[in-house]
Amino acid sequence: MKIIMLGAPGAGKGTQAKLIAEKFGIPHISTGDIFRANIKEGTDLGKEAKEYMDKGQLVPDELTVRILLDRVSKDDCKDGYVLDGFPRTIPQAEVLDSEVAKMGDKIDFAIDVDVPDENIIRRMGGRRACLKCGATYHIEHVPPKKEGICDTCGSELVLRDDDKPETVKNRLEVYHKQTQPLIDHYSRLNILRTVDGTQDVKVVFDNIVKLLEA
Ligand code: AP5
Ligand code: MG
Repeated sequence: MKIIMLGAPGAGKGTQAKLIAEKFGIPHISTGDIFRANIKEGTDLGKEAKEYMDKGQLVPDELTVRILLDRVSKDDCKDGYVLDGFPRTIPQAEVLDSEVAKMGDKIDFAIDVDVPDENIIRRMGGRRACLKCGATYHIEHVPPKKEGICDTCGSELVLRDDDKPETVKNRLEVYHKQTQPLIDHYSRLNILRTVDGTQDVKVVFDNIVKLLEA
């Protein structure tokens, strides 16, 4: 099964993608996590991506598409994947659609996790992220078992550099301008499914599973 997660920054794409990946036994691929891992390792790609990410802007399509296509060509993606944070622009979606079609395949679902901007701003300050395995927590809603430590891999949890209120505001603007048009794009292809992302993590997940298994 090939799934795309859509939704504003902080809507819960990463949280839900991880659960979907575990349930269906497919890899969770987040372009944001790939960039953050490169920033942590100090690679050239990380240095370039950081300049855009810290301002809340998108990393250029050409670079992002190259990284994503390289990742989905790996063996573990043969039976599907859940993409989190890609595509984010119409050109990215068009490349993905055509690359998947070239392999005689198609994207099965685009899940839009719908959360209004007011809720997002409240969520972001409480988020804590693991830069090693990509797990995401929230100090109130989704706390780790041990404060500051990732349940999955034991690494230290951090506040992301782009979760400062001013940057979150820019990310939301960029989302409405450049990424929201994808909702129409996938709706036209009849694969868009929308879930109310303001509910509890577990309720949102159960609703997604119902949609995927319908
Ligand atoms: P990326 O890492 O993709 O960030 P984003 O889209 O801004 O989304 P987030 O990761 O911030 O939020 P999320 O929806 O995953 O929510 P989460 O599950 O963490 O991208 C970062 C940057 O990289 C971009 O700004 C751009 O510069 C660059 N980039 C990445 N991909 C790109 C691309 N394709 N093209 C160009 N540039 C690209 O949840 C948020 C918080 O809420 C957490 O604390 C979580 O615990 C909590 N939470 C989740 N669900 C619930 C719930 N139901 N109730 C209460 N709390 C909840
Ligand atoms: Mg995320």
